[in-house]
Amino acid sequence: MSAEDFDFAVQLTDTAGWQMIEEDFEFMTNLEPEGCFVLLKNSEKIGLATTISFDKIGWFGNLIIGEKYRKSGAGSTLVHHSIAYLARKQITTMGLYAYMDTVSFYKRLGFVFNSYFTVLQGKIKRSIRLKKAVDCKKAEKDDLYRICECDAHCFGASRKKLLKPILLDEANVCYTFKDKGKIQAYVLSKVWNNFAEIGPLVSPWGRSDVALSLLESLFKNLEGFEVSLAVQKKETALINALLKIGLEKQFCVARMFLNPPAALGCVYMPESLERG
Ligand SMILES: CC(C)(COP(=O)(O)OP(=O)(O)OC[C@H]1O[C@@H](n2cnc3c(N)ncnc32)[C@H](O)[C@@H]1OP(=O)(O)O)[C@@H](O)C(=O)NCCC(=O)NCCS
Repeated sequence: MSAEDFDFAVQLTDTAGWQMIEEDFEFMTNLEPEGCFVLLKNSEKIGLATTISFDKIGWFGNLIIGEKYRKSGAGSTLVHHSIAYLARKQITTMGLYAYMDTVSFYKRLGFVFNSYFTVLQGKIKRSIRLKKAVDCKKAEKDDLYRICECDAHCFGASRKKLLKPILLDEANVCYTFKDKGKIQAYVLSKVWNNFAEIGPLVSPWGRSDVALSLLESLFKNLEGFEVSLAVQKKETALINALLKIGLEKQFCVARMFLNPPAALGCVYMPESLERG
């Protein structure tokens, strides 16, 4: 995929209601210049998919085929092509978030179910009002190294190339929770106009109080904003708190892996469905 394909990419993803803009594909191709693909039939563009590589872990997303070209192997071709690309980059684990009606498609291609995530969206109408909140601080640029360290511990690979541009964009908001001088948890949000995409949120397991405190601090900056995020479905306390403040469940996705990582750390919310 190159800049001349962005227009096609937006038009095609509009047919699925993904609300993507050209800048999304510019961001994606800047992160992984050789790993975003457009599928051609003769010389007609009929589909696309994107990948991103983080050391040994790769992520796959944005797979879509023009409606009239489906069910004839085009989608599988793009998945195989992406697997081969990531394998050349020495990636051993490849992850993705699958819509529920595509789980069997990915299973057939070798991906294994890992866990469910619920996508929530809506306007924040009131604060979370935690009984026992922990103290969270707005992140500074100097925190980048320690945020990446905390993230890598949970994600299993360094996501610095993704986290750095998000953190350094002054429109975005990030909070951290520190304990014993170390960043133990953090949340990032990408903000534009009156919309904020929340994620990643990384926090030690069993500490949904920390996750909620981070969100409460963040949401104070986002009153009246439409926000969107995905949470591990098993985090019921977190989901119930988000429903109470005005968010609504949109749909569910399944996290799936080709060669799952040995131990999965404490990722409560992905950065985005397409980048893990
Ligand atoms: C999901 C999607 C990308 C699949 O693309 P596709 O080109 O239809 O994929 P394929 O043709 O390779 O496979 C689709 C099915 O058709 C079947 N198929 C492939 N070739 C076929 C053929 N010649 N004749 C009949 N069936 C065929 C496959 O076995 C597969 O079945 P399965 O889903 O039960 O595994 C496409 O449906 C799409 O764009 N959906 C909307 C966007 C979306 O949901 N993206 C996924 C995000 S997670």
